Amino acid sequence: MQRISSGIDGLDQILFGGLPKGRSVLVAGEPGTGKTTLCLQYLHHGLQQGESALFVSIDEKPEHVISDALSLGWDLDPFLESGKLHVMDITQHIGDFDSAEHTVDLGHVIETIMAKIKAIGATRVVIDPIAPLVFGDAHTQQIVSYIRGLIFALEDSGNINTLLTSYVPVGSEKVSSIGVEEFATSGIIILKLEPLHQRYVRTLRVKKMRGTRMELSAYHIEIMSGRGIVVRNPL
Ligand SMILES: Nc1ncnc2c1ncn2[C@@H]1O[C@H](COP(=O)(O)OP(=O)(O)OP(=O)(O)O)[C@@H](O)[C@H]1O
Ligand SMILES: [Mg+2]
Repeated sequence: MQRISSGIDGLDQILFGGLPKGRSVLVAGEPGTGKTTLCLQYLHHGLQQGESALFVSIDEKPEHVISDALSLGWDLDPFLESGKLHVMDITQHIGDFDSAEHTVDLGHVIETIMAKIKAIGATRVVIDPIAPLVFGDAHTQQIVSYIRGLIFALEDSGNINTLLTSYVPVGSEKVSSIGVEEFATSGIIILKLEPLHQRYVRTLRVKKMRGTRMELSAYHIEIMSGRGIVVRNPL
């Protein structure tokens, strides 16, 4: 199996050589656990190697995504200017979840994302977060088939590596909102803040990764300016 570097050395080691190529992986965690940081590090790494990348942002303005990256030490401006990176805000496409138009909008959103990936030849894609696409229970069946369709479309070419993030309710053991993201993706990385000796530590754990060996332990991680996520010892 071919692999790509995640851009995080310790994570590549946990996976015995990197993320499986051409797959979609879910990055799940409560607010503030480092999901966006991990995704930015992964994109920046690919960009530095000459790849093209698409960051699909929902709920966060593209300017904020770009300034968050800069605060972590990654200047995305040259890649935006050269057209190697595109940050797409699809918040306005999501529309009103209570409206009957919702599923129609979702189909359009997925088409828009796939068209952009093609246009820029993106090999690294981030959708941060996927959760707003799967909220609402009135049309759950359709939403499930759209999300599954999106993940299949992304994995079809074998050349597009995707990270999707999902925020999990605080204190919950769930890793996704309705489960389909969890089953349809090829892998799951869980980020947490865990109590340890009267304080909290950040942890990273790989829950599944189809087609590869992996370490099951939770690892202590740090988020550092200029370096992003740094993997330390197992808990
Ligand atoms: N430049 C930085 N240096 C050190 N730590 C940082 C830096 N930028 C962010 N952090 C830390 O990283 C944490 C995680 O940020 P991040 O935005 O990646 O989390 P998230 O899981 O995407 O959160 P959300 O669910 O709210 O989107 C922040 O709460 C902050 O403590
Ligand atoms: Mg985030």
